[in-house]
Amino acid sequence: MTTAHAYGKVILFGEHAVVYGQPAIAVPVTQVRATALVDGAHPDDGVTILAPDLNLVHRLGSPAQTDEARPLELTVRNALDRIGVPRAQDLRIEVSSTIPIARGMGSGAAIATAMVRALGSHFDAGLAASDVSELVYQTEILHHGTPSGIDNSVIAFEKPVYFVRGEGPKVFEVGCPFSLVIADTGVPSPTRDVVADVRRAWELDRERYDRLFEEMGALARAAKDAITTGRLDGLGCLMNRNQALLEEIAVSSPEVERFVAAAREAGAEGAKLSGAGRGGNVIALISPSARDEVSGALRSAGAVRVMATRVE
Ligand code: MEV
Repeated sequence: MTTAHAYGKVILFGEHAVVYGQPAIAVPVTQVRATALVDGAHPDDGVTILAPDLNLVHRLGSPAQTDEARPLELTVRNALDRIGVPRAQDLRIEVSSTIPIARGMGSGAAIATAMVRALGSHFDAGLAASDVSELVYQTEILHHGTPSGIDNSVIAFEKPVYFVRGEGPKVFEVGCPFSLVIADTGVPSPTRDVVADVRRAWELDRERYDRLFEEMGALARAAKDAITTGRLDGLGCLMNRNQALLEEIAVSSPEVERFVAAAREAGAEGAKLSGAGRGGNVIALISPSARDEVSGALRSAGAVRVMATRVE
């Protein structure tokens, strides 16, 4: 049996703007992860994909495909084709995940990454992180329509990435580690819908939206400098400004803004939504001494789950 994992992620800067060619920064979150197990099966059983958490059992190639089964089927087909083994295998593939679904933490990309990694190891394919990322990007298209590619990149490379669409991910070093609190609003953040709404709004007023995206891009560039040099003094302010711009493109929500205010009042240096928005997770930059205070404030504001992570 072969087992593989893939961590979740959060976007620190530049969500949405990254779809329009601006840079964005994302980091892995090692506190949550997806797992895939690959094992042999009885002769002629074919490939069976199981996701017990979703009550899902799917035979590869079977026509009745649910929304949950489709990305799993596509991931396995693409991975087997890329590895160069026939799809007519007898395999049992089981997936599970502790990453909250539809909260901007890359749950779909992480499940696909764990599956590709497990299949790669099972067949000794020696897939590089870039191969895994490219394969998972195909599944992301099914999930999200027009993904920028940042989620599959940060999850496949498992390092902070500075990402510009079309240029490939740049993994970068963190000059001085820092801490984040991540708080789940409990409201699903439907990436596909929010991205489509932003596109409609951009089409109606390109000048204004391009200006806002450009400013988001400038924040991501400034943040990369701050993170690589370890001069983190202004990082919280950059996050706050990014949140203000996300509010201007109408991807924030009352829950998000309640959480952002609670985190800042409790001592966070900066706070913003992360991912598609209109729910999902809020991230707060904290000094370690403020962790309990900020976590408590976010719970009181209604967070269904709060976790802390260190970016290093
Ligand atoms: C989703 O995690 C981030 C978005 O920028 C969409 C994308 O980059 O594909 C909203």
